[in-house]
Amino acid sequence: MPKDNNTFYITTPIYYPSSDLHIGHTYTTVAADALTRFKKLQGFDTYFLTGTDEHGLKIQKAAEEANLEPQEFVNDKVNSIKKLWELMNIDYDQFIRTTNEDHIKTIQSIFEKLYEQGDIYKGKYEGHYCTPCESFWTESQLIDGKCPDCGREVTTASEEAYFFRMSKYADQLIKYIEDHPDFIQPEARKNEMINNFLKPGLQDLCVSRTSFNWGVPVTFDDKHVVYVWMDALPNYISALGYLNNKEDLMDKFWPADIHLVGKDIVRFHTIYWPIFLMALGLPLPEKVYGHGWILIQGGKMSKSFGNVIDPNELAQKYGVDALRYHILSDMKAGADGNYSEELLVKKINTDLANDLGNLLSRTVAMTVKYFNGVIPNDRESQEIDNELINMTEKLPESVASKMDEVDLSGALEDIWKLVNRANKYIDETEPWKLGKQNKEKRLAAVLYNLTEVLRFLGVLLVPFIPESATQLLDQLEVPEEKRTWESIQKFGNYPNNLKVKRYPALFPRIELKEEKIKEKEKNSKKSSEKKESYITIEDFSKVDLKVGKIKEAVKHPKADKLLILQIDLGDHTRQIVSGIAQYYKPEELVDKSVIVCTNLKPIKLRGEESNGMILAAQDGDNLSLITVDNDLNPGSQVS
Ligand code: ME8
Repeated sequence: MPKDNNTFYITTPIYYPSSDLHIGHTYTTVAADALTRFKKLQGFDTYFLTGTDEHGLKIQKAAEEANLEPQEFVNDKVNSIKKLWELMNIDYDQFIRTTNEDHIKTIQSIFEKLYEQGDIYKGKYEGHYCTPCESFWTESQLIDGKCPDCGREVTTASEEAYFFRMSKYADQLIKYIEDHPDFIQPEARKNEMINNFLKPGLQDLCVSRTSFNWGVPVTFDDKHVVYVWMDALPNYISALGYLNNKEDLMDKFWPADIHLVGKDIVRFHTIYWPIFLMALGLPLPEKVYGHGWILIQGGKMSKSFGNVIDPNELAQKYGVDALRYHILSDMKAGADGNYSEELLVKKINTDLANDLGNLLSRTVAMTVKYFNGVIPNDRESQEIDNELINMTEKLPESVASKMDEVDLSGALEDIWKLVNRANKYIDETEPWKLGKQNKEKRLAAVLYNLTEVLRFLGVLLVPFIPESATQLLDQLEVPEEKRTWESIQKFGNYPNNLKVKRYPALFPRIELKEEKIKEKEKNSKKSSEKKESYITIEDFSKVDLKVGKIKEAVKHPKADKLLILQIDLGDHTRQIVSGIAQYYKPEELVDKSVIVCTNLKPIKLRGEESNGMILAAQDGDNLSLITVDNDLNPGSQVS
């Protein structure tokens, strides 16, 4: 029966549980999770498979070093991998382990079937073997006599082994790849496979070993265990019950829609795997997508370099969604990406805290301030709203097409274009002015539009940052039926009469520790320098400090960092230009009582007169205005 095209089956590689998983493995799994959640949102019947590849010499050796039986060793590791996926909010449907009985049954049945039909035969292997990669290489594949994958020494190995007749299927595979341009993605990887591996001719593949025993035994010749790729690759169908006792999900989900894999294992997934499937008479997966690697300062992450990044630590320190967002947005489609803590913090502070977080908090704060949380139904639209509305309505389709191309960072870029457009819409419509001018109907329209944009953003962001996006939707009280794909096909579905709530910041700003330390050092140096030169009470009394109430705040037209404030000092109002635009939005300042130095010599700042100074305290990236506890009258003397 042909597969129903409303289903979506996606897999990650099954990971070796020989050492702890790092941020690179986390990327693949988070990306697969986001793709699955997105397809689910679109109404697909999804199935997401991940798991562990537990056999082989590498695991056997790691277990020996840890003084454990291989099974005990992998059980421990699998527990910590499952915990990591739980922490990262990975919503998989099945976690397959190659030591599961069902999987073993599938592998043994496949091996027998292929042997009986003559695709597997017994021979003798003589070749170069890389132990860490568990790969045999031909002379011409070696680079400087070393393993072409990891660059380590290879050994010459010779042993009785079973082989799979790869060459028999090579032409059929080349034709298949040429007829199905989407099968191997991105394009560059397809060319590499055809030119470097298929065209030079395929060697028969060694599919069993006798020199170790931690593997699936060949049923009819039990000194052999199945060699690693023939054991690992069929996990994608053993998980669906192929030739084993499990529930048969093959009709429903096979062929897979995407095998998401790292670039180093594209070869195994686009040559060995399709050939095994052809031999079994099964259809080939729709797409094998080879993503790039996460690099550290442009280089490889490796235990021996001591630069392996632990996702557990990062998620606990910065939050799961911040980490998910960082790795998904910084890995450009198909290319390698760089990880650094500094980059991660920058992303949190700009994209998440400033752009998205502020858009939400400003919208909610104004709705609470002006309408007690409920936007009135009587609203006045204007021409200027149309651009924002059109852009919002087009977003779901453009994100969907990026997701179909497995371009997750592109999808996030599109989403952030709308975040930024909405922030600009606030600057253009100046809702705080509308509030003061009692233009309620217009203000209601502006806040409704912003809230509706946020609903679209929330629904589209759930697959990427599930917890925060859900919190955003909760804050706007969006009911379940308005969190669906259908509900974001048209602008204006945000229901009337809902009451929005103020929550703590979605993404609090973060200071990089080193910067904080440097800043502290600078400050303590400054204060120790100051200590040596005391001032007298007369000196202090020269400074005239008064309580002032901010009546108005606007952005300086020519300087991003400056705000122009009109401050009530009791007997008069004066203008002060202050460099606090990075820390406060103009509308947050109105009605605040601050401390003003009133006898500072007036100056012009970028063409605007500044007559005095307001006091603030700063700790690194954090700035706070000095305000007064009690509601003192403007003009009250500070002494
Ligand atoms: O290869 N950035 O398992 P594995 C991104 N068991 N991805 C990375 C990465 C990095 N820095 N480092 C590794 C295996 N990966 C086999 C798979 S599938 C039938 C069998 C990716 O644990 C790597 O590219 O060594 C691969 O896709 C995945 O992690 C698993 O690696």
